[in-house]
Amino acid sequence: MKKKRYTVTSALPYANGPLHIGHISGAYLPADIYVRYLKGKGHDVAFICGSDEHGAAITLQAKKENISPQEIVDKFHDLNKKSFEKFGINFSIYHRTSSKLHHETAQEIFSGLEKENIFTKKTTDQFYDTQHNQFLADRYIFGECPKCGYEHAYGDQCEKCGSALNPEELINPKSTLSGNTPILKETTHWYLPMNQHEEWLRTWVEKGELDGEKHHDPKLWRSQVLGQCKSWINSGLKERAMTRDLDWGVRVPIEDNEKKVLYVWLDAPIGYISATKKWAKENNKDWRDFWKNEETELVHFIGKDNIVFHCIIFPIILKCSKNYILPNNVPANEFLNLEGKKLSTSRDWAIWLHEFIVDFPNQEDSLRYALCATAPENKDTDFTWSDFQARNNNELVAIFGNFINRVVVLTNKYWNGTVPKCNSISSNDMELIEEIKTYPDMIGKSIEKFRFKQALNELMNLARVGNKYLAENEPWKLFKEDHQRTETIMNISLQIAASLAILSEPFMPFTSNKLKNLLNIDNCSWNDAGKQIIKNNHQVNPPVHLFHKIEDEKITEQLNKLKL
Ligand code: 2FM
Ligand code: ZN
Repeated sequence: MKKKRYTVTSALPYANGPLHIGHISGAYLPADIYVRYLKGKGHDVAFICGSDEHGAAITLQAKKENISPQEIVDKFHDLNKKSFEKFGINFSIYHRTSSKLHHETAQEIFSGLEKENIFTKKTTDQFYDTQHNQFLADRYIFGECPKCGYEHAYGDQCEKCGSALNPEELINPKSTLSGNTPILKETTHWYLPMNQHEEWLRTWVEKGELDGEKHHDPKLWRSQVLGQCKSWINSGLKERAMTRDLDWGVRVPIEDNEKKVLYVWLDAPIGYISATKKWAKENNKDWRDFWKNEETELVHFIGKDNIVFHCIIFPIILKCSKNYILPNNVPANEFLNLEGKKLSTSRDWAIWLHEFIVDFPNQEDSLRYALCATAPENKDTDFTWSDFQARNNNELVAIFGNFINRVVVLTNKYWNGTVPKCNSISSNDMELIEEIKTYPDMIGKSIEKFRFKQALNELMNLARVGNKYLAENEPWKLFKEDHQRTETIMNISLQIAASLAILSEPFMPFTSNKLKNLLNIDNCSWNDAGKQIIKNNHQVNPPVHLFHKIEDEKITEQLNKLKL
C-alpha cells in the first residue's frame, strides 16, 4: 500500500457557546472516524481544527453579556477543546484564530492577493446604525430573505434556505443592535469578484479537473454538495466584500485602515493553514507539505450551511494565493434534529457535549455510535433519546458486548484465559474464515467513500456473524464430548473478537482500547484485521463489560431536562 499524506479539517466552531450533538455529528465525529481509519492504515495525516474567534456571532454575544469578545472566546475555547478531547475527537491540533500566528498568516494571504490585484476596491453606501455609530453587515443586520421570504435572514446568509446574501438584498432591513431601520453611509472595502472565477470553478466542481488536469473524482462528492455548488455557479457568482468596518478581527494589513478587519469567512478557513503551521512547527514537520504539495489530499468536513465557503470562496482564495492545493472532497453533512425539532442554541434545544460527558461517564462511545448510526449523511435526520437507548441496549450491549463477553467468559472458564488451538477446521469454518477476511476492506472502502453509517453497519455485521457462529455451534455444550472442536470454535471466535477490536477503533476508540486490553493485543493495525491475529497459547484477561445498559429513568431524566 502506498503511504499517502492527508490534510483533514473540521469546521472551526465559533467560540461563543458550547458544542452540541448537531455540531459533533456534522463535522467532528465523521472527520475523526475518517482520520483514525487513515492513521490505522499507516497514512500521514494532519487533523486540523480550532476555535473560530472572530465574526459578528461573537461580538454580538459579547455585547449581550456585557463582556469583551476576548473573555467569551477564552471561556469557550477552553471548554470546547476539553470536550473534544474527552469525547475522543483526536485533532492533531486545536488552534485559535485570535492567535498572533493566525493574524499574521491571514494578513500575509490578504496582502498577497491584494498585490496580485485579486480584489477590487470600491467605495459604496452601506447600512449604518446611527444610534450605535456602526456599519452593519452580516449578523448586525436582518430582514426578509429575498429568496424564501424568511423574516429573520441575516445580512450574510439566510439560515432557513441557506442562500448567501448581501445586506442590500434584504427586504425591510433592521439593525440587530437597535432594531432601527439603518441609514446609508459611504465606506470603502475590498471585494472578491467571484464572477471572474466561474469558469474554472465550474470545471473543477463538475468534472473534477483543474488547470487541464484530473484533480478529483466528482462522483465521490455527495450529491447535495455538488447540487449546492452547481446551483450557486449556475445562478451567477457575485462579488463579496472581504473586509468589514469592525474593531474585532484580523486588521486589514494596509495603512490607514486600522478600523477595518478581514471578513470572518476570509480569515476562518485560513485558520486551517495557521493551525497547520503551529502543529508542524511543534512536531518537526513542514506545513507546506500539507498545503502546497499536490500529492496531499485535502478534505474539509463541514455542515451544509458552510458549503459555499469551502467549495467556492476558499478555493478561490487558495488558487489565487498560488501553489496551494484545493480540496479533494468536502463531505458536508445535512442537519441533525433533536426529538423532531431543529437544534437551537438560543432556545436551549440541544444535548450539550460537556453535559453528556458528565451525565454518562465512560459512555462516550455509546453516543459516538448512536450519532454515527443516525448521521445526516444525505438528508436531515432525527436524534431521539429513545433511539439512543435502544441502540445502546439492543445493539451495543446485546450484539457487540454480548459476543465479546461470551468469548472472553468461555476462554477464561474452560482454558483459564489461554487461547486454545485451532485444530479441526470444518468447511463451514473455512467459509467463515474467508468471510471475515473481507471485512477490513469492506469497512475501509465505505469509510473512504465517506459512508460512515454503512461502515458502522458492516462493523456490527461482523459482531452479528460472531454471535451467530457461537449460537450455531454452541461450544459450551461440546466441551466434554468434542474437545478439539470446541477449541477450534473458540479460537475462531477469538479471532473475530480481535478483528472487532481493530475495526471498531475509528468509531468507538474507547471500546477498542478496552477490548485490546481485554484480549491483550496491542501493536496491531488495520491491515492485521480479518486475519489470524491471536496466536495459540496467548493469554487473555478476565472478562469486563464493554457496554452498560441504559435504564429508562436515565432517559426520562434527559427528556425532562429538554422540557419537551
Ligand atoms: O459555521 C461556523 O460555525 C463557522 N465558525 C465555521 C467556520 S469553518 C472554517 F472556515 F473555519
Ligand atoms: Zn431564505
